[in-house]
Amino acid sequence: MTTVSAVDRWHPSPYAISKAARIIQSGGLVAFPTETVYGLGADALNAEAVKKIYIAKGRPSDNPLIVHVNSILLFKAIVQVNDTALALAKKFWPGPLTLVLPADDIIPSVTRGGLRTAAIRMPDNPVALELIACAGTPIAAPSANLSGRPSPTDADTVLHDMNGRIDMILDGGSTELGIESTVIDVSDPSRILLLRPGGLAAELIEKVTGIKLEIPDELSKKKSPGTHYRHYAPKVPVKIWRKGEPFPSGSGEVAFMGIDDPKGSVLSEPIKYVRKIIFTSTANYAHGLFAGFRKFENENISSIVVQWPDDITGLGAGLRDRILRAAGIER
Ligand code: TXA
Ligand code: MG
Repeated sequence: MTTVSAVDRWHPSPYAISKAARIIQSGGLVAFPTETVYGLGADALNAEAVKKIYIAKGRPSDNPLIVHVNSILLFKAIVQVNDTALALAKKFWPGPLTLVLPADDIIPSVTRGGLRTAAIRMPDNPVALELIACAGTPIAAPSANLSGRPSPTDADTVLHDMNGRIDMILDGGSTELGIESTVIDVSDPSRILLLRPGGLAAELIEKVTGIKLEIPDELSKKKSPGTHYRHYAPKVPVKIWRKGEPFPSGSGEVAFMGIDDPKGSVLSEPIKYVRKIIFTSTANYAHGLFAGFRKFENENISSIVVQWPDDITGLGAGLRDRILRAAGIER
């Protein structure tokens, strides 16, 4: 059975945290909140524990996990940190930035999906940071959803996907950002690769490094196996609507999410859109996207239409990426 413990995000109860930490130390699985989405955690240095994450999620074993740390000291102890990576960590951590660097042998191969590098981040959430501190080990944690499904932004969604598959869920309320961290490969500081746009805008990273992030070509894409799989997919088809264009065709009852109400746009055929969420900003849209997918798929509709975000600054690039992959389109 999976235990759920409510914790105050700002003042997490030491009792719940120490119970969760003991589970991590003894090789079990605990889901916990971060500022992006909920993570499904295990001791990153315990290969047997990490294997359980792949099983619980149904995740392909070549898709590496992010290792969560609570200090720069721990960061330096598990990967080979260069000056650029250190400057980025000091500027943006705790926060939604994941740094891929050459791994030390202490990180088991299973945590790295067999790669020589490892992905590290320091989450900006007191529950997550306390858990890592109390467990006394870095925590490997992918998003706490079944593989391929939209990432969970609250504990109920984690329970829905993971009930009976994991030991404990720390319920610290809804996550702030709603989409996952930005992942960059900074192994070679003269060529920084943007492996996954996300919670930290590329332009903010570029300001610190002084160089443009490179979008990986097909070859280097292989370095981030996770980007090949269909992701974030609700149970009903996702279609994309661009403002000013005809509403995508499809029969039946449709749900809509976006910033502009499509009412009045040229409709390609009579449609009935029965549910809608209109967001107030790109950040608000990113915050609600996955939760919206989860809500609508249970409401007996035939498809979910999402607006293509015009703005690619801030969270816009990450939002576009999640939309493309939910719709089954490779970026
Ligand atoms: O915000 C987040 O990043 C959340 C929270 C829980 O921290 N975690 C998360 O983990 O989104 P996950 O496993 O769903 O996504 C990790 C991504 C995958 O695309 C994976 O392929 C990539 O990071 N990744 C991990 N290690 C890597 C490595 N060594 N080289 C390249 N890509 C890596
Ligand atoms: Mg994920």
